[in-house]
Amino acid sequence: MKPVKVGVCGLGTVGSGTVNVLRRNAEEITRRTGRPIIVEQIGARRDNPDCDTTGINITRDIFDVVNNPEIDVVVELIGGYDIARELVLKAIENGKHVVTANKALIAVHGNEIFAAAREQGVVVAYEAAVAGGIPVIKGIREGLTANKINWLAGIINGTGNYIMTQMRDYGRDFADVLQEAQELGYAEADPTFDVEGIDAAHKLTILSSVAFGIPLQFDKAYTEGISKITPLDIEQADELGYIIKHLGIARRTDKGVELRVHPTLIPKDRLIANVHGVLNAVMVQGDAVGPTMYYGPGAGAEPTASSVIADIVDVARTMNTEYGERVPPLAFTEESLDEDSG
Ligand code: HSE
Repeated sequence: MKPVKVGVCGLGTVGSGTVNVLRRNAEEITRRTGRPIIVEQIGARRDNPDCDTTGINITRDIFDVVNNPEIDVVVELIGGYDIARELVLKAIENGKHVVTANKALIAVHGNEIFAAAREQGVVVAYEAAVAGGIPVIKGIREGLTANKINWLAGIINGTGNYIMTQMRDYGRDFADVLQEAQELGYAEADPTFDVEGIDAAHKLTILSSVAFGIPLQFDKAYTEGISKITPLDIEQADELGYIIKHLGIARRTDKGVELRVHPTLIPKDRLIANVHGVLNAVMVQGDAVGPTMYYGPGAGAEPTASSVIADIVDVARTMNTEYGERVPPLAFTEESLDEDSG
């Protein structure tokens, strides 16, 4: 059967994980997709020794990938706001489907990108943008599609959770653990995004859009990080029977949806208080199902690649079929743009 040709832009931690898993699990992926998925081209400034790129065409200009007529799906893994925006909009203009792990891009420019995708009739998929390897976007959008969501709350930054866990359990120094998280490939290129709550606010913005059917409104989220948490705070919380977790919380109110990201005291016996290390967990409360929780690795090469590839497979399954898209590509409907989401 005709293969789906993918162009990968960016060969850092996630790009490398994506190429490696696509090659390693090619048989399973082909069986599940119904057609092979091949990496036609990689756009990256430099090679990555962790990635086997044998036989793949590599260009140093990422725009070669979006302009390559052979490519069906562009996988944007360069991160950041501006170049990524330009790249994705160009890919859409060229009629290509897009898969991205870029939460900053979707949270800040997603409304513009989805509008362009709608116009061109292509899919923009972003499962990997939230909570790494946990299929929480698909969980909410597909699994909870019958529900009115009342609230959601989660640990959605792996680096921050890793730092807090190491400080609490091993008495380690904040800066020291942050450096380790960077070496392990968990942290953002600019780690202030992790420790000041910006990354979590990006993800909360995206989750809220999917859960509540509202436009992406990153600038409306209250954002506070973990940089002011001291070992003494952690110790005192412990003595009082609490664990401090950095949460993203969104809930319906009479005035619209409230979005906030901040450290939170959680009683030690709660499930979410026991989510440690780089793991993430998202609780979602739907009116029909009640409380649900999604748990797993929130960062790292192959966990994130797992979500990227799930999106590639989704796109591949629906390309050129007489049924059209199996999964709605957009986070919200046009109607909901008019709603007050405060
Ligand atoms: N820096 C992010 C985190 C990577 O630690 O959660 C995954 O989005």
